[in-house]
Amino acid sequence: MPELVQKLLWTNSMTYFHGYTSAEQIRLREQARILGRYTHHSLPLRGDEKLLEVGSGVGGQTALLAQLFPKLRITALERERSSHDAALLALENQPELAQRVQPVCGDVFDLPPGLAGFDAGYICWVLEHVSEPSRFLATLRGCFRPGATMIVQEVFGQSFRTEPLLSLFGQDYYSSYLCLQKELGGDPEIGFRLGALLDEAGYEEVEVSAQVVLEDQRSPRRRQEIFTYMGQLLASVEDSLVEKGYCQAGDGAKVAAELTELGAQEESIFFYTFVRALGRVPK
Ligand SMILES: C[S@@+](CC[C@H](N)C(=O)[O-])C[C@H]1O[C@@H](n2cnc3c(N)ncnc32)[C@H](O)[C@@H]1O
Repeated sequence: MPELVQKLLWTNSMTYFHGYTSAEQIRLREQARILGRYTHHSLPLRGDEKLLEVGSGVGGQTALLAQLFPKLRITALERERSSHDAALLALENQPELAQRVQPVCGDVFDLPPGLAGFDAGYICWVLEHVSEPSRFLATLRGCFRPGATMIVQEVFGQSFRTEPLLSLFGQDYYSSYLCLQKELGGDPEIGFRLGALLDEAGYEEVEVSAQVVLEDQRSPRRRQEIFTYMGQLLASVEDSLVEKGYCQAGDGAKVAAELTELGAQEESIFFYTFVRALGRVPK
């Protein structure tokens, strides 16, 4: 399917505003690599478990989790066929991971048969795009053994702060990004609702923690990388923002350049908080 048609299809399906282009596949893998030091830090996985990763995309995080926990067996559930196919293709070049990772194409709201008895669940950067997150989490409960751990990590858009501050243009672009996500049925602030959502969905012993991403002069290389990453993330939705009248063609590249430039400044600071929530499947 031509990329433009694909892109319009998702925009219209109002679910995933970054779309499913090949450029987005590359961006997701790069995102998994750059954010891995934060998202995979101190994950409460024993390592020898059967893990169900939900909304696994092209498998960027899946591969990293499999490397980090060499005994983990991962089933990676993704509803978008092109992303699932990309995950399968990547595994062809990594036979040692292929033995422990099984991508499955399917939708949480229409679960494929046979997904049962998992010891742990992992969902990251997915609920922000889901219009019924509580039903999503409740539907998944049946895939796990009693006492299994569910790990959910999500965005908290308002927490993004830089020093120096973004220009008014940059702040406006970022606000538009958050507005568009809401307009498309997602929730860019869903992080701080994760505890309530897991509770509503019937999970027990729910714990929530704020995960801080703070890069400054102590690590200029990491700071540059995260600023540049943020610019690319914002630029990746430029087409949708233009289509909805939030900005003009070229604004994505402009905001990306601004963020890259901030990352190079000697005393700049990048700050963002995402949220990790843990819950247990009732015994
Ligand atoms: C932002 S991507 C994140 C992918 C991956 N977790 C990562 O961090 O690289 C969100 C993914 O969730 C998938 N997704 C959303 N709703 C889903 C559902 N109901 N069932 C299965 N996958 C879903 C989307 O297709 C998309 O690939």
